[in-house]
Amino acid sequence: MAKSIKNICCIGAGYVGGPTMTMIAAKCPHIIVNVVDINEKRIAAWNDPDVENIPIYEPGLSDLVGQTRGENLFFSTDVDAAIKAADMIFISVNTPTKTYGVGKGMAADLKYIELCARQIAAVATTDKIIVEKSTLPVRTAEALRSILDHTGNGVQFDILSNPEFLAEGTAVSDLLHPDRVLIGGEQTENGKKAQKALVDVYSNWVPKERILMTNVWSSELSKLTANAFLAQRVSSINALSELCEVTEADVNEVARAIGTDSRIGSKFLKASVGFGGSCFQKDILNLVYISQTYGLQEVADYWEQVIIMNDHQKRRFAKKIVKTLFNTVSGKKIAIMGWSFKKDTNDTRESAAIYVADYLLNEQAEITVYDPKVTAEQIYSDLNYLGTRSDEENRRLLKVVTDPKIAVEKAHATAILTEWDEFTEFNWKNMYDSMLKPAFLFDGRMLLDHEELKSIGFEVYTIGKG
Ligand code: NAD
Ligand code: UGA
Repeated sequence: MAKSIKNICCIGAGYVGGPTMTMIAAKCPHIIVNVVDINEKRIAAWNDPDVENIPIYEPGLSDLVGQTRGENLFFSTDVDAAIKAADMIFISVNTPTKTYGVGKGMAADLKYIELCARQIAAVATTDKIIVEKSTLPVRTAEALRSILDHTGNGVQFDILSNPEFLAEGTAVSDLLHPDRVLIGGEQTENGKKAQKALVDVYSNWVPKERILMTNVWSSELSKLTANAFLAQRVSSINALSELCEVTEADVNEVARAIGTDSRIGSKFLKASVGFGGSCFQKDILNLVYISQTYGLQEVADYWEQVIIMNDHQKRRFAKKIVKTLFNTVSGKKIAIMGWSFKKDTNDTRESAAIYVADYLLNEQAEITVYDPKVTAEQIYSDLNYLGTRSDEENRRLLKVVTDPKIAVEKAHATAILTEWDEFTEFNWKNMYDSMLKPAFLFDGRMLLDHEELKSIGFEVYTIGKG
């Protein structure tokens, strides 16, 4: 019989750990869920009496936290205590691209995962089911098993792979109605019991036919593959967007025409200034690295092209701005609308806006940024992280404002970099009036009504249309 889970610990209170555990707590009132993190500031924000101040902005999440926090959902920095009390431990820590040593710039850095495994092994005095929630290279469970078995206190560990497929901005509805939940388990009697225990948790709200079971390696690899396929679609349509711009085809029309083919499908065919987010690039680089380490150079080259195309798309958008503004943006004010990597999130990791801004700053532009959810500190931290120029210089050349009207005042150009809904509701006539003329508008998201903008007087450039 599968173990009945009464107490869950999740290590890592980030974009995945926070929302996924909140959903489990909401749907499984009989289970105590402890979310733990070493980041004290983050935990304090999760515990903020005003649920609007939780550290992650996701539509619907604050309400759900409000309903469950203090009932059966708890946020804490006491990792050891939560490990001890748990029957099941989710590892949901970050797995960024390595920035040093072998595999630098390509492989996933698994040091945080290893630290978790060592801590669990040291602390656990009862049997535990360990769930890989973080996105991991195929065969990571092997390393986890080795650490747990060699350093543990003789208790039994079962390891499952349960990758997360939520997208930011829609995390709550993705968790509520997942296309599928994937659970990879070891092909042993205990492994199957552990799988069943996790199936029982999800069955509280996910229909059984949506819960897929595989072996551990298939599950680990399926997560990288899913992200690679999604990113590949964006790079494919973005490659076509450049061709559309020189042939007078319209990439939206092409996307609609091909998307109605049920074999192709209509989703993920929105041309843009380039995909961002913490995972697409990192996971593809990881896939490329894994392929290389197995000597599969053609496989590696195939997937690497998705990243090359994405970098090209960001760069060519920035170049287009410079070229259109008579080949120089030096000393010119450019308003950037949107800094997050997509709408409805305050996450800026790998956002195209960072790279476009950096390119324009290198050309000595003066930038003003408006984003409804991203803080000024985050924007400076993103730019400083690139190390292109000093913090003082970034702060001197780039200003962050909380009023879009101020962003465009006396600007030579406005660039739309995130598809926030509110941008479509701006009074663009007023915006136009306060800008310098000719007033250029660069739409990196194909978001606005370009015919209307042209009738107001804007010179419009959009991705994907000549
Ligand atoms: P994140 O950086 O937002 O959160 C990770 C958290 O883990 C941080 O708060 C960090 O302090 C904490 N942490 C690290 N080491 C720790 C330790 N030893 N003990 C306790 N806490 C520790 O990352 P994220 O976006 O939530 O991503 C987590 C994983 O999920 C990654 O592998 C990512 O690829 C994957 N993933 C992310 C998304 C997404 O939308 N962000 C979606 C699916 C999968
Ligand atoms: C993505 C996947 O969609 C999730 O399934 C996965 O769990 C997650 O990565 C992860 O592993 O982290 P996310 O990055 O949050 O989710 O958001 P997406 O909606 O996938 O968008 C990623 C980027 O692609 C954004 O910059 C978005 O603007 C861009 N995009 C997306 C396009 O440019 N065009 C599209 O048609 C779709």
